[in-house]
Amino acid sequence: MILVTGATGTIGTEVVRILAERGERVRAMTRKPEGANLSAKAAEAAEVVRGDFEDPDSLDAAVAGADAVFLLDAPGPWIERHDLAMLDAVRSHGIGKVVKLSAIGTGENSDLRVGGWHLPGERAVRAGEAVWTILRPSSFASNTLRWAPMIRAGQPVANMTANGAQGVVDPRDIAEVAVAALTTPDHAGKTYTLTGPELLSTPDQVEILRKVLNRPIEIVGVPLEEAKEQMIAAGLDPEFAEVAMRGQRFIAEGRNAELTTDVVTVLGRPARSYEIWADDHRAAFG
Ligand SMILES: NC(=O)c1ccc[n+]([C@@H]2O[C@H](COP(=O)([O-])OP(=O)(O)OC[C@H]3O[C@@H](n4cnc5c(N)ncnc54)[C@H](OP(=O)(O)O)[C@@H]3O)[C@@H](O)[C@H]2O)c1
Repeated sequence: MILVTGATGTIGTEVVRILAERGERVRAMTRKPEGANLSAKAAEAAEVVRGDFEDPDSLDAAVAGADAVFLLDAPGPWIERHDLAMLDAVRSHGIGKVVKLSAIGTGENSDLRVGGWHLPGERAVRAGEAVWTILRPSSFASNTLRWAPMIRAGQPVANMTANGAQGVVDPRDIAEVAVAALTTPDHAGKTYTLTGPELLSTPDQVEILRKVLNRPIEIVGVPLEEAKEQMIAAGLDPEFAEVAMRGQRFIAEGRNAELTTDVVTVLGRPARSYEIWADDHRAAFG
């Protein structure tokens, strides 16, 4: 039995779907089991369990009887608290395997980027009894879905990262790597940095979207301080906004321009390109 946390989000829905389609026993954790966002096959095949990282009793119930846990937290300064709460439950139930979804760059200059949030959880996973794999993805291709309302309305796309390029990765590839780590012994003790096949800046991604959608899309540069003030004014935790902006600055300075072949190593095929992702998600952009 594989417990998938973050099961209703971008990566988790894919992990649950693939496991269910392969006939694995899967349990999907969510704070709101009623009406959980799962694919039809997953909803039919998976057991859905209520679990909240803020409620240790619910985590005990969620892990009971599981053989492996896919550990994914929503982004934010609570990641350390949430990871450690789940790893407590993993330890007390003697769960045999943990696959943790972390972030690129964790452990190196972590104070500069979001990866700092994942460092305590990574350390606790490595120090635990369970067999582990850590996945550190680069920027998700799906992050550009937040441009969809602007593109549909013919408005310019906001660019906070200038010409800083990243190894944009398809969430479906991350999920497939997670499933490989969860279901085979081949990835024990490995830390993978997961990127797509090419380095892309925001203007590069917009250019690909222009081509795929066959329509003009403008870009407008947004100063980071202005973006941070807007996030805080919109109700975002100031610490969250500060770390998010440090991450954007890091990218803008070209310091996240890293490509690896870890997806190829694990899956035995090339990583999907951003163009493939964009083509498969044309409908979302109208
Ligand atoms: N986006 C990127 O470019 C990027 C790059 C590298 C790493 N990452 C990492 O990827 C992770 C986010 O993955 P994602 O985009 O797939 O997530 P997501 O779509 O934001 O979904 C978040 C998931 O977390 C669950 N959740 C939220 N609060 C919870 C709580 N208190 N207890 C239990 N579950 C809770 C939600 O489930 P319910 O609401 O159903 O409970 C949902 O399934 C973060 O850790 C981030 O650092 C992201």
